[in-house]
Amino acid sequence: MSFVEAVEELASRVGLDVPREGNLGVRPTTPTDGLFDLLEKAAGLYRNQLSVSDRGKDYFRARGLTGETAATFNLGYAPDGWDFVLRQLGKSESDRLKLHQTGLAIERERRPGTDSPGYYDRFRDRVMFPIRDARGRTIGFGGRVLDKGEPKYLNSPETELFHKGRELYGLYEARQATRTLTRLMIVEGYMDVVRLHQAGINYAVATLGTATTPDHLSRVFRICQELIFCFDGDRAGKAAAWRALENALPHVRDGRQIRFMFLPDGHDPDSLVGAEGREAFEARLQSAETLSSYFLRHLREQVDMTSRDGRARFKELAKPLLERIPEGAFRDILEVDVDRLTQIDTGLLAARSAPTVQSGAIRNPAAGRGSVVRQAIRTLVHYPQIAVDAPSADGLAGIEKPGIPLLMELLNDLQENPCTNTATLLERWRGRPDFDPLFKLASAEIQFDAAGAARELKDALSQLFPERGDQRLDELLRKQAREGLTRAERTELQGFLTRPQGAQESAHTQAGQRT
Ligand code: UTP
Ligand code: MN
Repeated sequence: MSFVEAVEELASRVGLDVPREGNLGVRPTTPTDGLFDLLEKAAGLYRNQLSVSDRGKDYFRARGLTGETAATFNLGYAPDGWDFVLRQLGKSESDRLKLHQTGLAIERERRPGTDSPGYYDRFRDRVMFPIRDARGRTIGFGGRVLDKGEPKYLNSPETELFHKGRELYGLYEARQATRTLTRLMIVEGYMDVVRLHQAGINYAVATLGTATTPDHLSRVFRICQELIFCFDGDRAGKAAAWRALENALPHVRDGRQIRFMFLPDGHDPDSLVGAEGREAFEARLQSAETLSSYFLRHLREQVDMTSRDGRARFKELAKPLLERIPEGAFRDILEVDVDRLTQIDTGLLAARSAPTVQSGAIRNPAAGRGSVVRQAIRTLVHYPQIAVDAPSADGLAGIEKPGIPLLMELLNDLQENPCTNTATLLERWRGRPDFDPLFKLASAEIQFDAAGAARELKDALSQLFPERGDQRLDELLRKQAREGLTRAERTELQGFLTRPQGAQESAHTQAGQRT
Protein backbone atom coordinates (compact mmCIF):
# COMPACT_ATOMS: atom_id res chain seq x y z
CA MET A 1 0.00 0.00 0.00
CA SER A 2 1.05 3.54 -0.54
CA PHE A 3 1.42 5.75 2.52
CA VAL A 4 -1.92 7.41 1.97
CA GLU A 5 -3.66 4.08 1.42
CA ALA A 6 -2.10 2.73 4.59
CA VAL A 7 -3.34 5.69 6.59
CA GLU A 8 -6.80 5.30 5.14
CA GLU A 9 -6.85 1.60 5.83
CA LEU A 10 -5.81 2.13 9.44
CA ALA A 11 -8.35 4.89 9.85
CA SER A 12 -11.11 2.73 8.46
CA ARG A 13 -10.22 -0.05 10.87
CA VAL A 14 -10.98 2.19 13.80
CA GLY A 15 -13.87 3.88 12.07
CA LEU A 16 -12.27 7.28 11.53
CA ASP A 17 -12.28 9.69 8.64
CA VAL A 18 -8.86 10.87 7.58
CA PRO A 19 -8.73 14.63 8.03
CA ARG A 20 -7.45 16.48 4.99
CA GLU A 21 -5.23 19.52 5.14
CA GLY A 22 -7.18 22.64 4.26
CA ASN A 23 -4.66 24.04 1.85
CA LEU A 24 -4.69 20.86 -0.17
CA GLY A 25 -8.18 21.80 -1.12
CA VAL A 26 -11.47 20.85 0.37
CA ARG A 27 -12.37 17.26 -0.29
CA PRO A 28 -13.74 17.29 -3.78
CA THR A 29 -17.49 17.09 -4.01
CA THR A 30 -18.06 13.70 -5.50
CA PRO A 31 -21.22 12.52 -7.16
CA THR A 32 -21.56 10.14 -4.23
CA ASP A 33 -22.41 13.01 -1.87
CA GLY A 34 -25.59 12.36 -0.02
CA LEU A 35 -25.83 8.76 -1.12
CA PHE A 36 -24.52 7.31 2.14
CA ASP A 37 -27.01 9.40 3.97
CA LEU A 38 -29.85 8.17 1.82
CA LEU A 39 -28.88 4.53 2.29
CA GLU A 40 -28.67 5.04 6.03
CA LYS A 41 -32.12 6.56 6.09
CA ALA A 42 -33.52 3.71 4.03
CA ALA A 43 -31.96 1.21 6.45
CA GLY A 44 -33.67 3.08 9.27
CA LEU A 45 -37.02 2.89 7.51
CA TYR A 46 -36.63 -0.84 6.95
CA ARG A 47 -35.54 -1.41 10.54
CA ASN A 48 -38.54 0.47 11.76
CA GLN A 49 -40.84 -1.68 9.64
CA LEU A 50 -39.45 -4.73 11.39
CA SER A 51 -40.91 -3.49 14.65
CA VAL A 52 -44.22 -2.15 13.39
CA SER A 53 -45.22 -5.05 11.17
CA ASP A 54 -45.30 -8.69 12.13
CA ARG A 55 -44.41 -10.07 8.78
CA GLY A 56 -40.66 -9.50 8.89
CA LYS A 57 -40.45 -10.07 12.61
CA ASP A 58 -42.21 -13.43 12.35
CA TYR A 59 -39.92 -14.49 9.58
CA PHE A 60 -36.72 -13.78 11.50
CA ARG A 61 -38.17 -15.26 14.65
CA ALA A 62 -39.04 -18.46 12.80
CA ARG A 63 -35.45 -18.61 11.66
CA GLY A 64 -34.25 -18.38 15.21
CA LEU A 65 -32.86 -14.85 15.27
CA THR A 66 -33.03 -12.75 18.40
CA GLY A 67 -33.88 -9.08 18.54
CA GLU A 68 -30.34 -8.40 19.63
CA THR A 69 -28.95 -10.01 16.50
CA ALA A 70 -31.38 -8.07 14.35
CA ALA A 71 -30.11 -4.89 16.00
CA THR A 72 -26.44 -5.81 15.56
CA PHE A 73 -26.93 -6.30 11.84
CA ASN A 74 -29.52 -3.57 11.54
CA LEU A 75 -31.88 -6.02 9.87
CA GLY A 76 -35.13 -4.75 8.49
CA TYR A 77 -38.20 -5.39 6.43
CA ALA A 78 -39.19 -3.72 3.18
CA PRO A 79 -42.99 -3.75 3.02
CA ASP A 80 -44.92 -4.65 -0.07
CA GLY A 81 -45.76 -1.80 -2.44
CA TRP A 82 -44.00 0.11 -5.19
CA ASP A 83 -43.08 3.33 -3.46
CA PHE A 84 -42.43 2.77 0.25
CA VAL A 85 -38.94 4.24 0.03
CA LEU A 86 -39.64 6.58 -2.87
CA ARG A 87 -42.53 8.20 -1.08
CA GLN A 88 -40.43 9.04 1.97
CA LEU A 89 -36.98 9.68 0.54
CA GLY A 90 -37.70 10.70 -3.04
CA LYS A 91 -39.66 13.87 -2.66
CA SER A 92 -37.62 15.92 -5.12
CA GLU A 93 -36.42 14.97 -8.57
CA SER A 94 -32.80 15.10 -7.41
CA ASP A 95 -33.59 12.84 -4.46
CA ARG A 96 -35.24 10.36 -6.80
CA LEU A 97 -32.17 10.46 -8.99
CA LYS A 98 -30.02 9.73 -5.96
CA LEU A 99 -32.26 6.86 -4.91
CA HIS A 100 -31.69 5.48 -8.36
CA GLN A 101 -27.94 5.94 -7.97
CA THR A 102 -27.99 3.93 -4.74
CA GLY A 103 -29.89 1.13 -6.42
CA LEU A 104 -32.88 1.54 -4.13
CA ALA A 105 -35.10 2.79 -6.95
CA ILE A 106 -35.48 1.30 -10.38
CA GLU A 107 -36.31 3.43 -13.39
CA ARG A 108 -39.56 2.72 -15.11
CA GLU A 109 -39.66 2.45 -18.83
CA ARG A 110 -40.36 5.93 -20.07
CA ARG A 111 -43.67 6.51 -21.61
CA PRO A 112 -43.39 8.42 -24.88
CA GLY A 113 -44.03 12.09 -24.41
CA THR A 114 -43.03 12.31 -20.75
CA ASP A 115 -39.76 13.99 -19.71
CA SER A 116 -39.09 12.99 -16.18
CA PRO A 117 -38.54 9.34 -15.55
CA GLY A 118 -40.66 7.46 -13.09
CA TYR A 119 -39.23 5.11 -10.51
CA TYR A 120 -40.30 2.24 -8.29
CA ASP A 121 -38.79 0.58 -5.21
CA ARG A 122 -36.36 -2.22 -5.86
CA PHE A 123 -37.02 -4.02 -2.58
CA ARG A 124 -40.61 -5.04 -1.89
CA ASP A 125 -41.87 -7.48 0.69
CA ARG A 126 -38.42 -8.72 1.60
CA VAL A 127 -36.45 -9.00 4.81
CA MET A 128 -33.48 -6.72 4.50
CA PHE A 129 -29.78 -7.17 5.24
CA PRO A 130 -27.90 -3.88 5.06
CA ILE A 131 -24.40 -4.31 3.66
CA ARG A 132 -21.90 -2.08 5.38
CA ASP A 133 -18.43 -1.02 4.39
CA ALA A 134 -15.44 -1.20 6.71
CA ARG A 135 -16.46 2.01 8.43
CA GLY A 136 -19.98 0.82 9.05
CA ARG A 137 -21.64 2.91 6.38
CA THR A 138 -24.48 1.20 4.61
CA ILE A 139 -23.57 0.82 0.95
CA GLY A 140 -26.17 -1.65 -0.30
CA PHE A 141 -28.71 -4.26 0.66
CA GLY A 142 -29.57 -7.87 0.26
CA GLY A 143 -33.25 -8.65 0.46
CA ARG A 144 -34.70 -12.12 0.95
CA VAL A 145 -38.16 -13.24 -0.09
CA LEU A 146 -40.30 -14.46 2.78
CA ASP A 147 -42.22 -17.08 0.94
CA LYS A 148 -41.30 -18.67 -2.31
CA GLY A 149 -40.22 -16.49 -5.16
CA GLU A 150 -37.37 -15.57 -7.40
CA PRO A 151 -34.80 -14.45 -6.89
CA LYS A 152 -34.45 -15.74 -3.33
CA TYR A 153 -32.01 -12.96 -2.57
CA LEU A 154 -32.15 -9.70 -4.40
CA ASN A 155 -29.02 -7.60 -4.04
CA SER A 156 -28.29 -3.97 -4.71
CA PRO A 157 -26.75 -3.54 -8.13
CA GLU A 158 -23.15 -2.42 -8.52
CA THR A 159 -23.13 1.27 -7.75
CA GLU A 160 -20.63 4.00 -7.09
CA LEU A 161 -20.50 2.89 -3.47
CA PHE A 162 -21.11 -0.82 -3.72
CA HIS A 163 -18.81 -3.29 -5.41
CA LYS A 164 -19.70 -6.90 -4.81
CA GLY A 165 -16.25 -8.17 -5.66
CA ARG A 166 -14.73 -6.14 -2.86
CA GLU A 167 -17.17 -6.25 0.01
CA LEU A 168 -17.53 -8.93 2.62
CA TYR A 169 -20.85 -9.09 4.40
CA GLY A 170 -20.36 -9.09 8.16
CA LEU A 171 -16.84 -7.72 8.19
CA TYR A 172 -17.84 -4.53 9.92
CA GLU A 173 -19.84 -6.44 12.52
CA ALA A 174 -16.96 -8.88 13.04
CA ARG A 175 -14.61 -6.01 13.75
CA GLN A 176 -17.06 -4.38 16.06
CA ALA A 177 -17.33 -7.61 18.02
CA THR A 178 -13.59 -8.21 18.30
CA ARG A 179 -11.06 -5.42 18.23
CA THR A 180 -8.26 -7.66 17.09
CA LEU A 181 -9.51 -10.34 14.77
CA THR A 182 -7.10 -13.24 14.48
CA ARG A 183 -9.09 -15.24 11.96
CA LEU A 184 -11.84 -14.88 9.42
CA MET A 185 -14.11 -17.53 8.00
CA ILE A 186 -15.70 -17.03 4.61
CA VAL A 187 -19.13 -18.57 4.30
CA GLU A 188 -21.65 -18.38 1.49
CA GLY A 189 -24.73 -16.63 2.76
CA TYR A 190 -26.14 -13.68 4.67
CA MET A 191 -28.08 -15.90 7.03
CA ASP A 192 -24.99 -17.96 7.70
CA VAL A 193 -23.07 -14.90 8.87
CA VAL A 194 -25.90 -13.63 11.02
CA ARG A 195 -26.69 -16.97 12.59
CA LEU A 196 -23.04 -17.78 13.31
CA HIS A 197 -22.55 -14.38 14.85
CA GLN A 198 -25.52 -14.98 17.10
CA ALA A 199 -24.00 -18.29 18.14
CA GLY A 200 -20.83 -16.47 19.18
CA ILE A 201 -18.83 -17.16 16.03
CA ASN A 202 -18.33 -13.57 15.10
CA TYR A 203 -15.51 -13.94 12.62
CA ALA A 204 -17.69 -15.20 9.78
CA VAL A 205 -18.11 -13.10 6.65
CA ALA A 206 -19.78 -13.80 3.33
CA THR A 207 -19.09 -12.93 -0.24
CA LEU A 208 -22.17 -11.48 -1.86
CA GLY A 209 -23.32 -14.18 -4.18
CA THR A 210 -20.00 -14.11 -6.02
CA ALA A 211 -16.86 -16.23 -5.92
CA THR A 212 -14.08 -15.09 -3.63
CA THR A 213 -12.07 -12.53 -5.57
CA PRO A 214 -8.43 -11.51 -5.23
CA ASP A 215 -9.73 -8.24 -3.80
CA HIS A 216 -11.56 -10.10 -1.07
CA LEU A 217 -8.43 -12.01 -0.19
CA SER A 218 -6.21 -8.93 -0.06
CA ARG A 219 -8.72 -7.46 2.33
CA VAL A 220 -8.77 -10.48 4.55
CA PHE A 221 -5.02 -10.72 4.81
CA ARG A 222 -4.68 -7.08 5.66
CA ILE A 223 -6.73 -7.82 8.72
CA CYS A 224 -5.54 -11.21 9.90
CA GLN A 225 -3.39 -14.12 8.86
CA GLU A 226 -5.79 -16.99 9.29
CA LEU A 227 -8.55 -17.72 6.81
CA ILE A 228 -10.98 -20.59 6.72
CA PHE A 229 -13.18 -21.16 3.71
CA CYS A 230 -16.38 -22.88 4.68
CA PHE A 231 -18.37 -24.60 1.98
CA ASP A 232 -21.44 -26.75 1.74
CA GLY A 233 -20.58 -30.37 1.05
CA ASP A 234 -22.63 -30.48 -2.15
CA ARG A 235 -21.32 -30.33 -5.68
CA ALA A 236 -21.74 -26.58 -5.97
CA GLY A 237 -19.86 -26.09 -2.72
CA LYS A 238 -16.99 -28.21 -3.93
CA ALA A 239 -16.75 -26.35 -7.21
CA ALA A 240 -16.75 -23.06 -5.36
CA ALA A 241 -14.07 -24.33 -3.00
CA TRP A 242 -11.69 -25.24 -5.77
CA ARG A 243 -12.19 -21.86 -7.40
CA ALA A 244 -11.45 -20.28 -4.05
CA LEU A 245 -8.26 -22.31 -3.77
CA GLU A 246 -7.12 -21.20 -7.20
CA ASN A 247 -7.68 -17.58 -6.27
CA ALA A 248 -5.96 -18.08 -2.94
CA LEU A 249 -2.71 -19.49 -4.32
CA PRO A 250 -1.09 -16.13 -5.06
CA HIS A 251 -1.84 -15.10 -1.48
CA VAL A 252 -0.07 -18.00 0.15
CA ARG A 253 2.79 -16.71 2.30
CA ASP A 254 4.84 -17.97 5.16
CA GLY A 255 2.96 -17.04 8.26
CA ARG A 256 -0.44 -17.19 6.65
CA GLN A 257 -2.81 -20.01 7.16
CA ILE A 258 -5.54 -20.91 4.69
CA ARG A 259 -7.81 -23.85 5.32
CA PHE A 260 -10.93 -25.41 3.86
CA MET A 261 -13.87 -26.79 5.68
CA PHE A 262 -16.58 -28.87 4.03
CA LEU A 263 -19.89 -29.23 5.78
CA PRO A 264 -21.90 -32.44 5.82
CA ASP A 265 -24.26 -32.82 2.89
CA GLY A 266 -27.50 -30.96 3.24
CA HIS A 267 -26.19 -28.48 5.77
CA ASP A 268 -25.06 -24.91 5.58
CA PRO A 269 -23.41 -23.07 8.48
CA ASP A 270 -26.75 -21.62 9.52
CA SER A 271 -28.47 -24.98 9.82
CA LEU A 272 -25.44 -26.71 11.28
CA VAL A 273 -24.73 -24.26 14.05
CA GLY A 274 -28.43 -24.35 14.82
CA ALA A 275 -28.34 -28.13 15.04
CA GLU A 276 -25.14 -28.65 16.97
CA GLY A 277 -24.19 -25.36 18.57
CA ARG A 278 -21.04 -23.31 18.69
CA GLU A 279 -18.66 -25.76 20.31
CA ALA A 280 -19.33 -28.60 17.94
CA PHE A 281 -19.16 -26.25 15.00
CA GLU A 282 -15.86 -24.80 16.11
CA ALA A 283 -14.54 -28.29 16.76
CA ARG A 284 -14.99 -28.89 13.06
CA LEU A 285 -12.70 -25.96 12.41
CA GLN A 286 -9.91 -27.82 14.13
CA SER A 287 -10.03 -30.49 11.50
CA ALA A 288 -10.44 -28.17 8.53
CA GLU A 289 -8.20 -29.25 5.69
CA THR A 290 -5.01 -27.32 5.04
CA LEU A 291 -4.59 -25.72 1.67
CA SER A 292 -1.80 -28.13 0.78
CA SER A 293 -3.82 -31.17 1.74
CA TYR A 294 -6.85 -30.02 -0.22
CA PHE A 295 -4.65 -29.12 -3.17
CA LEU A 296 -3.11 -32.59 -3.37
CA ARG A 297 -6.29 -34.46 -2.59
CA HIS A 298 -8.31 -32.66 -5.22
CA LEU A 299 -5.71 -33.17 -7.93
CA ARG A 300 -5.31 -36.85 -7.06
CA GLU A 301 -9.03 -37.27 -7.40
CA GLN A 302 -8.83 -35.99 -10.98
CA VAL A 303 -6.55 -38.77 -12.16
CA ASP A 304 -5.82 -42.44 -11.69
CA MET A 305 -2.82 -42.36 -9.40
CA THR A 306 -2.16 -46.05 -9.81
CA SER A 307 -1.14 -45.61 -13.40
CA ARG A 308 1.99 -44.06 -14.80
CA ASP A 309 -0.04 -41.83 -17.11
CA GLY A 310 -2.26 -40.77 -14.28
CA ARG A 311 0.66 -39.69 -12.16
CA ALA A 312 2.19 -37.82 -15.09
CA ARG A 313 -1.11 -36.06 -15.60
CA PHE A 314 -1.22 -35.28 -11.88
CA LYS A 315 2.09 -33.54 -12.14
CA GLU A 316 0.95 -31.66 -15.22
CA LEU A 317 -2.14 -30.41 -13.45
CA ALA A 318 -0.14 -29.34 -10.43
CA LYS A 319 2.55 -27.46 -12.29
CA PRO A 320 0.69 -24.31 -13.41
CA LEU A 321 -0.97 -24.12 -10.02
CA LEU A 322 2.32 -24.37 -8.14
CA GLU A 323 3.60 -21.55 -10.28
CA ARG A 324 0.90 -19.28 -8.94
CA ILE A 325 2.27 -19.63 -5.43
CA PRO A 326 4.89 -17.02 -4.55
CA GLU A 327 8.36 -18.45 -4.17
CA GLY A 328 9.17 -19.55 -0.68
CA ALA A 329 9.24 -22.40 1.73
CA PHE A 330 5.57 -23.25 1.33
CA ARG A 331 5.82 -23.66 -2.41
CA ASP A 332 8.99 -25.71 -2.02
CA ILE A 333 7.31 -28.11 0.34
CA LEU A 334 4.27 -28.51 -1.87
CA GLU A 335 6.56 -29.20 -4.81
CA VAL A 336 8.22 -31.93 -2.79
CA ASP A 337 4.84 -33.43 -2.06
CA VAL A 338 3.86 -33.40 -5.72
CA ASP A 339 7.20 -34.92 -6.69
CA ARG A 340 6.91 -37.53 -4.00
CA LEU A 341 3.52 -38.65 -5.21
CA THR A 342 4.71 -38.65 -8.80
CA GLN A 343 8.00 -40.34 -8.06
CA ILE A 344 6.49 -43.38 -6.49
CA ASP A 345 6.70 -44.57 -10.01
CA THR A 346 9.55 -42.77 -11.67
CA GLY A 347 11.97 -42.72 -8.77
CA LEU A 348 11.31 -45.39 -6.26
CA LEU A 349 9.98 -48.02 -8.58
CA ALA A 350 12.58 -47.48 -11.26
CA ALA A 351 15.33 -47.69 -8.70
CA ARG A 352 13.94 -50.84 -7.13
CA SER A 353 13.35 -52.69 -10.36
CA ALA A 354 16.80 -51.87 -11.63
CA PRO A 355 18.93 -52.83 -8.65
CA THR A 356 22.20 -51.82 -10.27
CA VAL A 357 21.15 -48.18 -9.97
CA GLN A 358 21.33 -46.77 -6.49
CA SER A 359 18.45 -44.43 -5.99
CA GLY A 360 20.35 -42.63 -3.29
CA ALA A 361 23.20 -41.90 -5.62
CA ILE A 362 20.93 -40.39 -8.25
CA ARG A 363 18.92 -38.28 -5.93
CA ASN A 364 21.49 -37.17 -3.48
CA PRO A 365 22.84 -33.86 -4.68
CA ALA A 366 23.87 -33.21 -1.11
CA ALA A 367 26.37 -36.04 -1.08
CA GLY A 368 29.51 -34.91 0.61
CA ARG A 369 27.74 -32.61 2.99
CA GLY A 370 27.24 -35.27 5.59
CA SER A 371 24.29 -37.59 5.85
CA VAL A 372 20.89 -36.50 4.69
CA VAL A 373 19.60 -36.67 8.24
CA ARG A 374 22.43 -34.52 9.48
CA GLN A 375 21.76 -32.08 6.68
CA ALA A 376 18.13 -31.78 7.73
CA ILE A 377 18.99 -31.27 11.38
CA ARG A 378 21.56 -28.66 10.51
CA THR A 379 19.09 -26.55 8.54
CA LEU A 380 16.65 -26.71 11.41
CA VAL A 381 19.22 -25.66 13.96
CA HIS A 382 20.25 -22.66 11.94
CA TYR A 383 16.78 -21.69 10.76
CA PRO A 384 14.28 -23.15 13.25
CA GLN A 385 11.44 -21.12 11.71
CA ILE A 386 11.37 -23.26 8.57
CA ALA A 387 10.02 -26.19 10.57
CA VAL A 388 6.48 -24.85 10.62
CA ASP A 389 6.24 -25.23 6.86
CA ALA A 390 7.81 -28.66 6.81
CA PRO A 391 5.89 -31.92 6.68
CA SER A 392 5.06 -33.66 9.91
CA ALA A 393 7.74 -35.87 11.38
CA ASP A 394 5.36 -38.82 11.34
CA GLY A 395 6.45 -39.56 7.81
CA LEU A 396 9.90 -40.42 9.12
CA ALA A 397 8.74 -43.05 11.56
CA GLY A 398 10.23 -46.44 10.88
CA ILE A 399 13.30 -45.24 9.04
CA GLU A 400 16.33 -46.85 10.58
CA LYS A 401 19.09 -44.36 10.28
CA PRO A 402 21.22 -42.66 12.87
CA GLY A 403 19.82 -39.27 13.81
CA ILE A 404 16.23 -40.00 12.77
CA PRO A 405 14.87 -39.89 16.35
CA LEU A 406 16.60 -36.55 16.92
CA LEU A 407 15.31 -35.16 13.62
CA MET A 408 11.78 -36.27 14.47
CA GLU A 409 11.93 -34.82 17.93
CA LEU A 410 13.31 -31.56 16.62
CA LEU A 411 10.62 -31.25 13.94
CA ASN A 412 7.87 -32.09 16.40
CA ASP A 413 9.20 -29.68 18.96
CA LEU A 414 9.52 -26.82 16.47
CA GLN A 415 6.13 -27.42 14.95
CA GLU A 416 4.45 -27.44 18.32
CA ASN A 417 6.43 -24.54 19.73
CA PRO A 418 7.68 -22.54 16.80
CA CYS A 419 10.79 -20.52 17.47
CA THR A 420 12.69 -18.21 15.21
CA ASN A 421 16.28 -18.27 16.29
CA THR A 422 19.05 -20.68 17.11
CA ALA A 423 19.82 -19.31 20.53
CA THR A 424 16.27 -19.84 21.76
CA LEU A 425 16.25 -23.32 20.37
CA LEU A 426 19.54 -24.26 22.04
CA GLU A 427 18.38 -22.78 25.30
CA ARG A 428 15.35 -24.95 25.14
CA TRP A 429 17.41 -28.04 24.48
CA ARG A 430 20.07 -27.40 27.07
CA GLY A 431 20.32 -30.36 29.38
CA ARG A 432 18.76 -32.81 26.95
CA PRO A 433 20.96 -35.72 25.84
CA ASP A 434 21.04 -34.46 22.27
CA PHE A 435 22.18 -30.98 23.20
CA ASP A 436 25.82 -31.56 22.25
CA PRO A 437 25.32 -32.59 18.65
CA LEU A 438 22.86 -29.75 18.18
CA PHE A 439 25.30 -27.30 19.65
CA LYS A 440 28.05 -28.53 17.33
CA LEU A 441 25.86 -28.20 14.29
CA ALA A 442 24.87 -24.71 15.37
CA SER A 443 28.51 -23.67 15.63
CA ALA A 444 29.39 -24.98 12.18
CA GLU A 445 29.61 -22.50 9.33
CA ILE A 446 26.79 -22.48 6.86
CA GLN A 447 26.42 -20.98 3.45
CA PHE A 448 22.74 -20.62 3.02
CA ASP A 449 20.02 -18.21 3.98
CA ALA A 450 16.52 -19.08 5.22
CA ALA A 451 15.27 -19.81 1.70
CA GLY A 452 18.32 -21.96 1.06
CA ALA A 453 17.75 -23.76 4.32
CA ALA A 454 14.16 -24.49 3.37
CA ARG A 455 15.41 -25.91 0.09
CA GLU A 456 17.99 -28.05 1.89
CA LEU A 457 15.39 -29.37 4.26
CA LYS A 458 13.10 -30.05 1.32
CA ASP A 459 15.87 -31.98 -0.43
CA ALA A 460 16.70 -33.96 2.64
CA LEU A 461 13.14 -34.89 3.46
CA SER A 462 12.30 -35.78 -0.10
CA GLN A 463 15.12 -38.29 0.04
CA LEU A 464 14.04 -39.66 3.36
CA PHE A 465 10.34 -40.06 2.75
CA PRO A 466 10.55 -42.78 0.13
CA GLU A 467 12.54 -44.80 2.65
CA ARG A 468 9.60 -45.04 4.93
CA GLY A 469 9.65 -48.72 4.33
CA ASP A 470 6.12 -49.38 3.26
CA GLN A 471 6.89 -52.97 2.43
CA ARG A 472 3.46 -53.67 1.12
CA LEU A 473 3.42 -50.59 -1.07
CA ASP A 474 6.72 -51.67 -2.59
CA GLU A 475 5.40 -55.12 -3.20
CA LEU A 476 2.31 -53.82 -4.92
CA LEU A 477 4.23 -51.40 -7.07
CA ARG A 478 6.68 -54.07 -8.11
CA LYS A 479 3.93 -56.50 -8.92
CA GLN A 480 2.13 -53.83 -10.89
CA ALA A 481 5.19 -53.22 -13.02
CA ARG A 482 5.91 -56.94 -13.41
CA GLU A 483 2.56 -58.50 -14.17
CA GLY A 484 -0.25 -56.12 -13.28
CA LEU A 485 -2.58 -56.20 -10.29
CA THR A 486 -5.81 -57.93 -9.46
CA ARG A 487 -8.83 -55.80 -8.86
CA ALA A 488 -8.49 -56.11 -5.11
CA GLU A 489 -4.80 -55.23 -5.20
CA ARG A 490 -5.54 -52.22 -7.32
CA THR A 491 -7.99 -50.96 -4.75
CA GLU A 492 -5.45 -51.60 -2.06
CA LEU A 493 -2.80 -49.66 -3.95
CA GLN A 494 -5.21 -46.81 -4.55
CA GLY A 495 -5.75 -46.79 -0.82
CA PHE A 496 -2.03 -46.49 -0.20
CA LEU A 497 -1.72 -43.66 -2.63
CA THR A 498 -4.61 -41.74 -1.24
CA ARG A 499 -5.00 -42.58 2.40
CA PRO A 500 -1.72 -42.96 4.27
CA GLN A 501 -0.18 -40.17 2.26
CA GLY A 502 -3.26 -38.10 2.86
CA ALA A 503 -2.97 -38.64 6.57
CA GLN A 504 0.53 -37.42 6.35
CA GLU A 505 -0.34 -34.34 4.37
CA SER A 506 -3.13 -33.33 6.61
CA ALA A 507 -0.51 -33.21 9.27
CA HIS A 508 1.49 -30.83 7.13
CA THR A 509 1.42 -27.49 8.64
CA GLN A 510 1.30 -24.13 7.16
CA ALA A 511 2.94 -21.63 9.38
CA GLY A 512 1.02 -20.88 12.49
CA GLN A 513 -1.39 -23.73 12.14
CA ARG A 514 -1.35 -24.51 15.79
CA THR A 515 -3.12 -21.59 17.29
P1 UTP B 1 -28.27 -19.88 -0.71
O1 UTP B 1 -29.29 -20.13 -1.77
O2 UTP B 1 -27.34 -20.97 -0.31
O3 UTP B 1 -29.13 -19.41 0.50
O4 UTP B 1 -27.45 -18.62 -1.13
P2 UTP B 1 -28.81 -19.33 2.05
O5 UTP B 1 -27.69 -18.40 2.30
O6 UTP B 1 -28.77 -20.66 2.65
O7 UTP B 1 -30.12 -18.54 2.48
P3 UTP B 1 -31.34 -19.04 3.31
O8 UTP B 1 -30.80 -19.84 4.44
O9 UTP B 1 -32.21 -19.83 2.39
O10 UTP B 1 -31.98 -17.75 3.72
C1 UTP B 1 -26.24 -18.26 -0.59
C2 UTP B 1 -25.96 -16.82 -0.91
O11 UTP B 1 -25.93 -16.62 -2.30
C3 UTP B 1 -26.45 -15.36 -2.63
C4 UTP B 1 -26.78 -14.69 -1.32
O12 UTP B 1 -25.65 -13.92 -0.92
C5 UTP B 1 -26.99 -15.86 -0.40
O13 UTP B 1 -26.83 -15.53 0.95
N1 UTP B 1 -27.68 -15.48 -3.42
C6 UTP B 1 -28.45 -16.59 -3.38
C7 UTP B 1 -28.07 -14.42 -4.18
O14 UTP B 1 -27.40 -13.39 -4.23
N2 UTP B 1 -29.25 -14.50 -4.91
C8 UTP B 1 -30.04 -15.61 -4.86
O15 UTP B 1 -31.09 -15.63 -5.51
C9 UTP B 1 -29.62 -16.68 -4.10
MN1 MN C 1 -29.37 -21.32 4.52
